[in-house]
Amino acid sequence: MAATNSASRSERPRAATVRPGLATLLATLLAVLLASAAVAAPAARLPDPAADRAALRAAYQQRFPHLAPDDYVLGVYAIDAGLRAQWEELNEFPPYEFAVDEGKVLFAQALPDGTTLADCLPDGGLGTAHRYPQVDPARGEALTLPLLINECRVRAGAERWDPDRGPMMAVLAFIADTSRGEHLEVPLPETPAALAVYATGRRLFHSKRGQRNFSCFDCHVTAVGQRLREQPLMPLLGAVTHYPVYGLRWGAMGSLHARFAGCFEQVGAAPLAPQSPEYRALEYFLGVMGDGLPYIAPGLHR
Ligand code: HEC
Repeated sequence: MAATNSASRSERPRAATVRPGLATLLATLLAVLLASAAVAAPAARLPDPAADRAALRAAYQQRFPHLAPDDYVLGVYAIDAGLRAQWEELNEFPPYEFAVDEGKVLFAQALPDGTTLADCLPDGGLGTAHRYPQVDPARGEALTLPLLINECRVRAGAERWDPDRGPMMAVLAFIADTSRGEHLEVPLPETPAALAVYATGRRLFHSKRGQRNFSCFDCHVTAVGQRLREQPLMPLLGAVTHYPVYGLRWGAMGSLHARFAGCFEQVGAAPLAPQSPEYRALEYFLGVMGDGLPYIAPGLHR
């Protein structure tokens, strides 16, 4: 997504803007470490997702005591009153409605072999978006709707769609819209395969990368609520509940994986491919963190 890329390139963080609250940050980080021995566990130990989730929620709760758990689905709008007012105004005529309408048409269209996506997706696709990502134990990887949609298309003799834009975003917006009012259902990993995928996602969340040597955790947990070049660093508990989003700066619908790519680039790291097993594992990790929150996709974004 060219627009995203150029935007994030001009939004490279400056270390100096992160530093002022370092004492508070360290205090938060310490609290997180104390709350969860798992955070400091040696790499060989299996992660404890329930403890991770409790620790992450506790860290956010400590930083934003006025927020209720469900508020986290609003992402940045949960923590910035000014932006929240703009968001509410824009939501009166949500720009993603066009994508939902377009997606409805695309969803019903016959593929070259005469089938439709409804024939191929698990449970017909509609009303299922809030249950992704989910780990398929046989495949040993996290499944997402864009991955399955492209697999359906290829099986039916159609071309793969770009997973980050265009028709894929429209169909995802439509399918997500049919899950509105549900709650995210990405339960704690129950199989060894799911735990392995979780461990991959968790490792990606905590590893430092890029010239800036920042992890997701550094910006979105330790420094959460601070500003990086005017952009508030938002909590990620609800990240999986509102994508795809209409990005006002993108002027188009955008995907969660395009946002991951933007954050890789912000720290000077080469982004991974959208729908790569790693990004899907990262999405699964975030899904487990946000399990049970209201599902409000498609969303709206700055
Ligand atoms: C240098 C700090 C920094 C790092 C490191 C970073 N991000 Fe971000 N992230 C941001 C900023 C700033 C935004 C807001 C961008 C915007 O408003 O366009 C953001 C936005 C996001 C969003 C959108 C949230 C929402 O509610 O829609 C997601 C998801 C996200 N980041 C995930 C990640 C993940 C996963 C990682 C690790 C791979 C990561 N970020 C690493 C700074 C960072």
